[in-house]
Amino acid sequence: MTKPLKGLLIGCGFFARNQLHAWSETAGAEIVAVCDRDAERARSYAAEFSIPAWHDTAEILSSGAFDFVDICTTMETHEELVALAVRHRVPVIVQKPFAPDIDTCRRIVANAAEAKVPVMVHENFRFQKIFQRIRGILDSGEIGDVTFGRLSWRNAIDVYSNQPYLLQTKRFIIMDVGIHMLDLARFLFGDAGDVSCFAQSVKEGLAGEDAATILLRHHNHATSIVDVSYASHRFPNPFPQTLGEIEGRFGTIQILEGEVLQVHSDGQQRREIIQNDSRSWTSSPWTQIQDSVPRTQQHFIDTLRHGGDFETSAEDSLKTYALAEAAYRSAETGRVVDARTL
Ligand SMILES: NC(=O)c1ccc[n+]([C@@H]2O[C@H](COP(=O)([O-])OP(=O)(O)OC[C@H]3O[C@@H](n4cnc5c(N)ncnc54)[C@H](O)[C@@H]3O)[C@@H](O)[C@H]2O)c1
Repeated sequence: MTKPLKGLLIGCGFFARNQLHAWSETAGAEIVAVCDRDAERARSYAAEFSIPAWHDTAEILSSGAFDFVDICTTMETHEELVALAVRHRVPVIVQKPFAPDIDTCRRIVANAAEAKVPVMVHENFRFQKIFQRIRGILDSGEIGDVTFGRLSWRNAIDVYSNQPYLLQTKRFIIMDVGIHMLDLARFLFGDAGDVSCFAQSVKEGLAGEDAATILLRHHNHATSIVDVSYASHRFPNPFPQTLGEIEGRFGTIQILEGEVLQVHSDGQQRREIIQNDSRSWTSSPWTQIQDSVPRTQQHFIDTLRHGGDFETSAEDSLKTYALAEAAYRSAETGRVVDARTL
């Protein structure tokens, strides 16, 4: 049997806990050290997850001890940390949002491409079981070519307790959860160009927007609506479900609460309930998101080992981040912005 790839995880904060659980289930890889500039955080995650070593500086990447690095810090740190990994030729998986703006994303991609160091963006929503199943239905041709889609994330989850930095983030919900929806829109409906967007700041005292309505025109002439809000009071709270519908030339898929798909085709309808895998460490309400993390990381490791392209390679993700950039520029100017011109 080949030896597992040895990884370093940088950023022992809120979401890293899910990634460390997920790494313990990822075949062909093991995390051999964690790092946080806050030494106490690194030490405590190393103890909790029985990881042999911890460090308080990412410079440890120069040691030659790592086959990959998992960067789970917030976006403003990614350019510097990915550049450090690239300098030491260590393949990277880096959390979304990739970077605060499209120019920074492009600099990161160009630097890694020049050194031929593989970089994948940790974009886990497309690895949720429900979206893998929808992709399967679309690929089967059952509803025909997509003509319209809507992806809707509306809830009032208190994101601010676990991620207090979001209160001060100027580019907030479009970068935080909108980016997941824009990746899903590309995954399910195809690449898009024209973008228009209205953004709102509903909760008082935020630095950025906590709601946005985005309209996309896809290259295949499908249109889609992506709407996101952290200010939608619904009982029970639908977090973290992405709801919506997908219309094709012959049928429709509705994405309903309770992780239910209602598929209309051939003059009939059927319901499918999509169950998450059962894992000891997942818990409500986060289960659906947590469950997607091992699949995301397994894809990264399998691609590193066997070759091929990451589904959400840094380079491919430029198309997703161009849509987000276009959404911000549209919200600022009130105009339709073609993401291909940015
Ligand atoms: N994919 C998802 O479903 C999902 C869900 C939640 C958060 N996230 C993303 O995960 C990322 C991390 O979010 P979080 O809430 O865990 O953040 P966090 O602030 O809780 O944790 C980040 C950690 O990184 C450390 N850090 C920052 N810069 C560092 C550096 N240069 N070297 C070493 N350590 C450094 C900080 O000390 C902190 O402990 C964000 O980009 C966020 O958007 C993704």
